[in-house]
Amino acid sequence: METSHLRILLTGASSGIGWHLTKLLAQDGTNRILAIARHTEAIPSKTGVIFPFQADFSLPEEIDRCFLYAKEQWGGIDVCIANAGFAYRECLQESGLSGDAYWKHIHKIFETNTIGQIYALQAFTDLKTNPNPEFRRRLFVSTISAVAMVPLPYYALYCSTKSALDGFLKTYDYEKPAWLRLMRVYPVATKTDFFCKAAQEECPLLPFLRQKPEKVAQAVFKGIRKGRYKVYPSKLFAMAYPFMRALPFLSRLYSRHERIKMQRHFQQTDKMSRRM
Ligand SMILES: NC(=O)c1ccc[n+]([C@@H]2O[C@H](COP(=O)([O-])OP(=O)(O)OC[C@H]3O[C@@H](n4cnc5c(N)ncnc54)[C@H](OP(=O)(O)O)[C@@H]3O)[C@@H](O)[C@H]2O)c1
Repeated sequence: METSHLRILLTGASSGIGWHLTKLLAQDGTNRILAIARHTEAIPSKTGVIFPFQADFSLPEEIDRCFLYAKEQWGGIDVCIANAGFAYRECLQESGLSGDAYWKHIHKIFETNTIGQIYALQAFTDLKTNPNPEFRRRLFVSTISAVAMVPLPYYALYCSTKSALDGFLKTYDYEKPAWLRLMRVYPVATKTDFFCKAAQEECPLLPFLRQKPEKVAQAVFKGIRKGRYKVYPSKLFAMAYPFMRALPFLSRLYSRHERIKMQRHFQQTDKMSRRM
């Protein structure tokens, strides 16, 4: 698929992977990008190319508003990139929440990471769009995560939102209309504000296998151009994952190692906070 003259809807454009992807897609100046986030100030600007749009992608009426805008302004969308998402780093019995507050806590992350993306996919397929004669098929890109495949301790809720999304998209791939293409993206730990927000720490511990958001954005961009169905931005993960599937103890070793690392980190930060 060409990566020019596209009408693109992209979520999570104010930070990290989405921010870099917005810049990349805007580079040749021929695309129109509806760049969505709840806080639009940090979205890169390029008049006539990037259209910052404030919306909360965990709410159906807000998602509808984005698609309606694109339809009214541009007659439709060729590529929808569902990238917004967040995590909690926590332990179930130590979340400090219970009852209604914990119920809402679970809802918030599923609404953003899973339900919002599935709802957006439905809105995208429902959109009675003016077909772009240049493109045979429309494309839905979903930023999932390597944690949909390999458990990351202390991120159980987050991992479950991504596994659920992955399961939905893998199944829907067999049901979807022929004019639609799905592309699933599985980044490993990416050096964005994501982990700071999840842990509410300035220097949180990052899991093993890390990459830069620029690399992830480039891999997505290349994936769109080459018509890929799956994108693994980390080559090392792409090579290691088949071994982890064939020899499941490798995946268990990784997850156990991450658990020990995290427990040590908790002990250290606890000591430091007691010293202060
Ligand atoms: N960083 C990683 O290690 C990693 C690894 C694998 C997969 N991923 C996935 O990659 C995606 C992007 O992550 P990132 O690392 O770029 O994180 P990030 O830097 O924290 O960016 C997240 C983006 O999502 C937006 N967002 C969050 N909740 C939203 C909502 N309810 N409505 C609209 N926008 C919302 C944020 O903007 P506002 O706060 O302004 O709304 C921000 O632009 C996420 O889906 C994440 O799960 C990340």
